Amino acid sequence: MNGLVLRTMAMLLAAALGAIATGLLLADHWGWALFCTTLIALLAYHLRHLALLNRWVSGASTDPIPESSGVWDEVFAGLYRRHRLEVRQRRRFARLLARSQQAGRALPYGVTILGPDMQIVWCNDSAEAHFSISRESDIGQPITNLVRQPEFAGYIKSANYAEPLEIATARPDELILSIQMVPYVDSHHLLLSRDVTQAYKLGIMRRDFVANVSHELRTPLTVLIGFLETVRDLKLDASRSRDYLNLMAEQGHRMQSIIEDLLTLSTLESALQPPGDERIDMAALLAQVRNEAESLSAGRHSLSVEVEPGVDLTGNTGEITSAFSNLANNAVRYTPPGGSIRIQWRAAGDGAEYCVTDSGIGIAAEHLPRLTERFYRVDRSRSRETGGTGLGLAIAKHALARHQATLAIESEAGKGSCFTVRFPRSRVLAVQPRSVALN
Ligand SMILES: Nc1ncnc2c1ncn2[C@@H]1O[C@H](COP(=O)(O)OP(=O)(O)O)[C@@H](O)[C@H]1O
Ligand SMILES: [Mg+2]
Repeated sequence: MNGLVLRTMAMLLAAALGAIATGLLLADHWGWALFCTTLIALLAYHLRHLALLNRWVSGASTDPIPESSGVWDEVFAGLYRRHRLEVRQRRRFARLLARSQQAGRALPYGVTILGPDMQIVWCNDSAEAHFSISRESDIGQPITNLVRQPEFAGYIKSANYAEPLEIATARPDELILSIQMVPYVDSHHLLLSRDVTQAYKLGIMRRDFVANVSHELRTPLTVLIGFLETVRDLKLDASRSRDYLNLMAEQGHRMQSIIEDLLTLSTLESALQPPGDERIDMAALLAQVRNEAESLSAGRHSLSVEVEPGVDLTGNTGEITSAFSNLANNAVRYTPPGGSIRIQWRAAGDGAEYCVTDSGIGIAAEHLPRLTERFYRVDRSRSRETGGTGLGLAIAKHALARHQATLAIESEAGKGSCFTVRFPRSRVLAVQPRSVALN
């Protein structure tokens, strides 16, 4: 038996004993009167506390426990303890819920909770961005009303969610999403979405690259095989045979150049280390660039080279030579005989710049943004005739980017081009002081 019942029974017993004693000492009716008064007082006391309890139970959950006295103290203290525990637990759950919602919102993946009818129950920030939906205004809407791609509707309807689905979103930036449905509690589903645009584009680039390489190598190989069969099948005199062999060697060299350029490009792309900080003797480097350009021009162009003395770079000599030579050689190759080519190296701003200006065939504006792509050529046959692989500018761009340099191209079809490479201050070495003779 609990304390409240025991104490109430004890009070009743005390009242009964008091009444009996009063009856014996005074008179019976005094005894009965005392007993009734005590019972009424006891009833009033319990009723008052019941009323307090009732008011508290039906009030707001934050109301404080009412003041009590006597045996009800114990009851109210027990209730108070339980109430405090509940409030504390509720707060803890609210904090936990808020934290897990925050975690869900911050996930780099899109998470959308869908109800039994595929209506949106909740979604995180990434899902809002992926599907252009709103956590505020689109709750309750079927997801298929908002994401209208037929393949998405088909995937949702299929109920076969073993494999993820890739879809292009209707957003102007053409996001590619990988989405997957995961069954969740009570016929709900989690719709997970992941932005795979980069990987998708990389896949396309890789496929294009393999197709381009195959195509570039197939052409000289086909020609080479044609010549080989001709030499094998026809009885040619010695001088004709030599002509064919020369043509074959030319095709062989072409394939060799492509493969060498591809290897250079892949070495540059996979190089994790920065290009180092050896001092590059720019006067010597530009003399080498000049020699190459002059031998390529064979006196058909007027060529000028201006080098500001004492402006040296730090980095990789081989990489910078290959980039600078490519720009100079391009100027020679894409300038008709009689044209002029000007090569300049100088300090500029707080860095340095290399400019190659030619009066050649120039480049139409629409080609300029794509010029540094691998195998991109404005005029494929002209590039090939002059021994180009279409990889020179891609190699130059990579080598220069590794030295934090930028490449700017200004050109107009028929009027000539100007290629400018700008190096930041961090790559330029201060002018070495010349020794001054004192007398
Ligand atoms: N100085 C220039 N004048 C005109 N066109 C140029 C010049 N430099 C480059 N180009 C164009 O850019 C293309 C890409 O150059 P590059 O990557 O060096 O390959 P290529 O091996 O064909 O020279 C060339 O095919 C050519 O169409
Ligand atoms: Mg080139």
